[in-house]
Amino acid sequence: IPNHYQDCVSTVLISHGMIMDRVQKLAADIRAAYTGKTIHLLCVLKGGSAFFQDLQVCLRNFHQFSKQESIPFTFDFIRAKSYAGTESTGTVKVSGCDLEKLKGKHVLLVEDIVDTGTTMSYLIPLLATYNPASLKVTSLLEKRTPRSCGFKADFVGFSVPDEFVIGYCLDYNDAFRDMQHICVISKTGIEKYKDGVPDS
Ligand code: PRP
Ligand code: MN
Ligand code: MG
Repeated sequence: IPNHYQDCVSTVLISHGMIMDRVQKLAADIRAAYTGKTIHLLCVLKGGSAFFQDLQVCLRNFHQFSKQESIPFTFDFIRAKSYAGTESTGTVKVSGCDLEKLKGKHVLLVEDIVDTGTTMSYLIPLLATYNPASLKVTSLLEKRTPRSCGFKADFVGFSVPDEFVIGYCLDYNDAFRDMQHICVISKTGIEKYKDGVPDS
């Protein structure tokens, strides 16, 4: 944990090493599920960006780490934002993607976490109207919470307890994305970054 976040973390939930191992295995599962197809990875910004980067490295380098061939993929980015502080506003703002280009593609959404499921429950029907050949979701984390709407991702890395988690691009008011482990935020962390990250 970097010095500037030391008092903001109550526990390290998933170490960076564990994340990397799991992403490698997820890449293998994804590769197997898309044999003979080209995957169109759609990274959900900003939270999904670290997972997306590591996942695409695994997919790209497959032939180096296993006896199997890599499979082709393309990618794009979409922005979806709904959180303020630790709470979902319930309203998902989507921007930054030409949805027309999804037509006929095997779209795989790359997310950091499915929490209440609000983001995915909004995004999936929206994207489906643009007629992709298939539409699936990989999420590094899924939260065990009574607030879940029941949405389940197709490829999940880890199930996490009902705590607010940060790090590896998961944020609290844009803070903590720059931490390599996935951690539970402390009360001090919530207080310290309640108005976001200071500019200077
Ligand atoms: C977070 C997270 C997921 C979503 C999960 O995004 O990255 O996209 O919320 O929560 P849900 O299942 O309750 O909808 P956020 O709105 O914080 O935007 P960000 O990715 O830019 O941080
Ligand atoms: Mn997000
Ligand atoms: Mg966020």
